[in-house]
Order: sequence, then C-alpha cells, then structure tokens
Amino acid sequence: MIEVIDVKKRYSSAEMIVKGVSFTVKPGTIYGLLGPNGAGKTTLMQMMATLLKPTEGVIRICGKDTAMDTLEIHKLIGFLTTEVKLDPLSTPNRLYEFFAALYDLPSEGLAERRTRDFDRFGITPFANKRIVELSTGMKQKISICISLIHEPPVIIFDEPTNGLDILTSKQVTDYLKELAKDGRTIILSTHIFSLAESLCDEIGVLVDGKIVASGSSRELCELTGKETFEDAFFDLYTKNHVEG
Ligand SMILES: Nc1ncnc2c1ncn2[C@@H]1O[C@H](COP(=O)(O)OP(=O)(O)O)[C@@H](O)[C@H]1O
Ligand SMILES: [Mg+2]
Repeated sequence: MIEVIDVKKRYSSAEMIVKGVSFTVKPGTIYGLLGPNGAGKTTLMQMMATLLKPTEGVIRICGKDTAMDTLEIHKLIGFLTTEVKLDPLSTPNRLYEFFAALYDLPSEGLAERRTRDFDRFGITPFANKRIVELSTGMKQKISICISLIHEPPVIIFDEPTNGLDILTSKQVTDYLKELAKDGRTIILSTHIFSLAESLCDEIGVLVDGKIVASGSSRELCELTGKETFEDAFFDLYTKNHVEG
C-alpha cells in the first residue's frame, strides 16, 4: 500500500514544484503518474523512495512514514530511477551478487534465482560482459532485474520503458502485470499515454505539480467527454497547464 497525503515539494528556490498531491495505491494494482517533462514525476518518485523529503505532507509505504523509517522503506520498495547509472566496469553477474549481499539474501538458491531472473529478460548471454559494452535496453533490463532482487511488496518505477524498443518494453510491462497479479503494489511514471492506458488500473494526470484528474483511462474519457484516451489527456493538459 502506498499513501501520498497532500505532499508538497520545493527545492531551494521559492517555487513549489509539487503542489499538494494525494493518492493511494492498493496492493494488486498499478497506478500510473502520467505527465509531460517537468511535471514533477521524478520529484514525487524520489520522495516515495526516501531520496527527497517532502516540504509538506506525508508519504506512507506499508504504513511506514518515508521521512522517518528510511531503512525499513528500503527493504519494502523496489526503486527504479532515471538518474542512477550502473558501474560501467562491472558485469551483470557481479552486480547481482553485490545487490544480493546488500539485501542479505540467502546464498542458498541464489544461482537458480539469478538464472530465472536473467532468463526472463534475456540477460543470460551477457551475464559476464562489462556494462559499458551493453545496449541501453540491456542496461535498463539489468537495472529492473536488480531493483527487484529482494522481491519487494512495493514497486516504484520512474519511466521504466525509457530507451527500450517495443519488444523489450512489452517484456517489462507484461512482467509488471504479473507482479500486480501476485499482489504487489506498483506505481510508475510515464509521459507516454498509450503505456498508461494499456498498463495502469488507475492513472493520475500530473500537470505542473498537481494531479488534475485521476481514474481509469475509460473514466478519464468519460470525464472529458472524449472518445480516445489520447484526446482525454490532451484536453486535461491544455485546460490545466499554465504557460510561464
Ligand atoms: N534538484 C532540483 N533542484 C531544483 N529544481 C529541480 C530539481 N530537480 C527537478 N527540478 C525542477 O522540478 C521540476 C520537475 O522536475 P521533475 O520532477 O524531474 O519532473 P518530471 O520527472 O515530470 O520530468 C522541473 O521544473 C525541474 O527543473
Ligand atoms: Mg522524470
């Protein structure tokens, strides 16, 4: 369960970047934060993952406050951000071992788990190659695989299909659907409305740091009186975005 309660964030300047955002994500569902570049998606995701503290408001993950229970939250979440880079000189195998140790995973059965995880994403043939030699898509798949190594109940993925071709993108979204079926709580951010529409049970449309509407893609079409979700999104965006 993720609870975001009237969260605001300002960086050093006076301007509020996130302007009072509230929503809840229940286990077994996928929530999508949909918004253009600069809307505040990454800022929100980083607050959920304890990397930033809200200026105001509270975020709870499985009942725990992200501003207080940092270490416990780290065990509860799988976090994928657009900012973190894998060590270019390491290899998928060594990264897997490093993160397994970091999360104190039992060594028993670890090799089998690695095979299962690497096979799912087609990483196995590259397991001993240096990261620097791998494609953007492969690096993204390794990041996803490692962020879920501890099988967390809550998954926070910032733009998870960025830089992926359509086949790889589908592997990732199918896997996220599987994880939701398995009862995990999932939030992802995206600027791609077709991804939000096909994958998310609920979509929060984020414009200039505010959620201007939320619901299923069908509900957002009904709300705006539009036939397609694309039109619904543009309608919500143009009615709520302030230039400047
Ligand atoms: N560390 C920071 N310091 C100051 N401003 C920032 C910082 N990070 C992001 N911003 C600003 O906050 C706004 C939202 O950014 P971000 O959360 O990255 O949006 P998104 O992920 O939706 O593209 C942007 O205007 C960006 O320039
Ligand atoms: Mg971002």
